[in-house]
Parts: sequence; C-alpha cells; structure tokens
Amino acid sequence: MKKGFVFDLDGVITDTAKFHYLAWKDLADEIGIEIDLKFNEQLKGISRMDSLERILAYGNKSDAFTTEQKEALAEKKNTHYVELLQDLTPDDLLPGVQEFLNDAKAQNVPCAIASASKNAPFILEKLGVQDAFDAIVDPATLTKGKPDPEIFVRAAEAINITPAEAVGFEDAQAGLDGIKAAGMYAVGVYSGEELHGADLIVHHLTDISVAELLQK
Ligand code: G6P
Ligand code: MG
Repeated sequence: MKKGFVFDLDGVITDTAKFHYLAWKDLADEIGIEIDLKFNEQLKGISRMDSLERILAYGNKSDAFTTEQKEALAEKKNTHYVELLQDLTPDDLLPGVQEFLNDAKAQNVPCAIASASKNAPFILEKLGVQDAFDAIVDPATLTKGKPDPEIFVRAAEAINITPAEAVGFEDAQAGLDGIKAAGMYAVGVYSGEELHGADLIVHHLTDISVAELLQK
C-alpha cells in the first residue's frame, strides 16, 4: 500500500525543458559552443551549475572560465529562462495533471515536489497548483543532486511517509535512478527518450489513477 506521491516538476507537471533548452542554447552560442536537442537530454534533472559544467565540458571549455564567470553565465541563463516562463498559465499543465492532483487531494493523499529547479515555487504558482503540494524540497539545501536519492528521501520525509510508502514520478533517467535508489515505486513519464528501471511507464498522468497507484 502506498501513502503519498513525490513528483519531479520539469517534464512531469509541465514541459519547461523547451525553455531550459532555448536559454542554454543561446548562452552556449554566445561562448562558441553548439548544443543540440540530443545533448539537451543529458541536462534533464541536472542542477543549473552542473548543466553549465556539462555544456562547458562538451565544448572543451571547462577551464576557460573562473568560478565567478561561471556563476555569471548561469545567472544570465536563468534570467533568460525566467523571462520565458512569464507566459506560463494553468493551460501549460501536462495532460491529466490537474485531475490527478485533484483526486489525490480529495483522497487526502499527500504530494511533494522533488525538483532540482530553484524556480519550482514560481512555476507552480504560475500553473496555479501551488496548493496541491504539501511540500517542496528546497534544492539549495541538498548535498547531492539526482541521481543521488537524497532529494526523494527528503521529499518523503517532508510528507511524513517512508520512501517505501511513496510513488515517485520522473521523466529523466537521472531522476528515475534516484527514485529507485531511494526505494520508492517508480513511475516513468515517457517523453520520447528511453527510460530504464521504471516500475511502470506512462505517457501522461491520464494513463493511471490515484486509486490504482495506492495499491502498488
Ligand atoms: C530541473 C530540470 C533541469 C534544470 C534543473 C535546475 O531538474 O530538468 O534541466 O537544470 O531543474 O533548474 P533551475 O530552474 O534551478 O535552473
Ligand atoms: Mg524532469
């Protein structure tokens, strides 16, 4: 029997990956690195600074910038990304999300967000679903990013359940690996890239019900 749900944000609740990609692509262009959509898959679930490091390594420029310069680059990307988020509305929720969250609320099933994004509270507010979540893990307080299970363990703690009592939702391989390492039941939300190790794969939250998952 499961007692609560832990959700990734980007790619599970809404599709912000396209905005992350646009903002990173612009920044990468500026420093002479060309990235494409295939490379972008590697950035899903990965923190802002780690994403920048991966882009720099990809362009053989890991040593070309000081720490301060890297921080400024990450800040610049984020300013652009936040600009792109301004037009988000509840219409940008992925199919089935609103209904699933309503159902969880109606059945008193606690829900938490385990996202590497420091913009998660802002995005949830824009989508109009901030009240659907009982907890949002602050990624700034973590010692390790996904695929480490820390963020998922902390999310379960925040809603007073054990990881074994939780169902975790993820669209990225790094996140799925973290959910499994935490000992949760893992739902992979398929976004076009192969996902390994999920207990169940869905295309959208319309494919499953709260009641069905609580039985897992
Ligand atoms: C999510 C996304 C990543 C992003 C990370 C940090 O995990 O999948 O692509 O890099 O959040 O987001 P932030 O909004 O803090 O830059
Ligand atoms: Mg994601």
